[in-house]
Amino acid sequence: MKTQQRDILVPLLDLRALHRAIREEIDQAIARVVEAQAFVLGEEVRLFEEAIAARLGAAHAIGVASGSDALLLSLLASGVGPGDEVVTTPFTFFATAGAIARLGARPVFVDIEPGSWNLDPDRVLAALGPRTRAIVPVHLYGRVARMEAWLDEARARGVAVVEDAAQAIDARRGGRAAGTIGTFGCLSFFPSKNLGAFGDGGLILTNDPDKATRVRRLRTHGGEKMYRHDEVGMNSRLDAIQAAVLRAKLPSLDGWTEARRAIADRYRALFAEAGLSDVVRPAEDDPEGRHVYHQFTIRAARRDDLRVFLESAGVGTAVYYPVPLHLQPCFGHLGHQAGDFPEAERACREVLSLPISPTLTAEQQHIVVDRIRAFYS
Ligand SMILES: Cc1ncc(COP(=O)(O)O)c(C=O)c1O
Repeated sequence: MKTQQRDILVPLLDLRALHRAIREEIDQAIARVVEAQAFVLGEEVRLFEEAIAARLGAAHAIGVASGSDALLLSLLASGVGPGDEVVTTPFTFFATAGAIARLGARPVFVDIEPGSWNLDPDRVLAALGPRTRAIVPVHLYGRVARMEAWLDEARARGVAVVEDAAQAIDARRGGRAAGTIGTFGCLSFFPSKNLGAFGDGGLILTNDPDKATRVRRLRTHGGEKMYRHDEVGMNSRLDAIQAAVLRAKLPSLDGWTEARRAIADRYRALFAEAGLSDVVRPAEDDPEGRHVYHQFTIRAARRDDLRVFLESAGVGTAVYYPVPLHLQPCFGHLGHQAGDFPEAERACREVLSLPISPTLTAEQQHIVVDRIRAFYS
């Protein structure tokens, strides 16, 4: 017997539709790499690094194997190791804190502010201590974290700032791109990201030439010359096919971002019209910067029931993230308990991300909000 496939009316993300308009450029980019037979680093990666550094206003860009590795290598190049503390948010993807712990350092969690879901800047200063080696702000869902309140103090103390900009490519604050404000900025090109590869990929941004040299060395087993290793690094390189695909997609990024921003505005207007303000709070725009809406996230009453209802109505949604990092089993040794970071814990109970492909139509958005209204009526 055939299992019945439920029709998906509005997918969370539609990459096939996104790639349709530039399919030829992508195919040619891949063919070029196959013809050149240089599959790891090389000219394609160099050209992409140059293009993205220029696009985002960074002095240096270093392509690596994933966003997770970008974090790990940036922290390694910041001297983070056993006994160090690294301040970060408990409301993020696991990789943020995973990279800290992987180097033997201790993640020191600081609660988020409820409006942006990013690190609460007023709490960051209080968390800095003699062992703090780095701060990792995460620009969650595509909105740059407010860092002004503690950035100067971090610099004065020699504390590295490693921006987790995995979800925030080309988001801006004070005119500067996410990932170019701190010591290092880390991007992810996971396929669902705003600029996605056809597999894993990541990148490190920095304005410091010495730090750029160091991470370049670390990504190739700690050596610049063949069979000479100045330090122990790792194997974390961007593949040429990914770089070629990303370079073919890069000219579309701005249009896709503007489409996401227009979709976010329309969602807010539709929710206002629907009169759901007592049960749904849509994401706010960033009044001081450019939010790039990697996700369009709402806070919703009875979130889990709403999610099941929307799934049965053919509307894709996701919960980023259901469990705060301080309550993950692998961080049990840190001794946290429920209630330690109440805003992060509340966010885990309330957030729901709605479809936001750049190709999402107004009609599809009407369906999403209409179904949400039906759930609450
Ligand atoms: C906030 C955040 N940090 C880090 C990562 C890790 O990136 P990757 O999946 O490329 O390793 C991701 C993406 O998955 C992310 O969303």
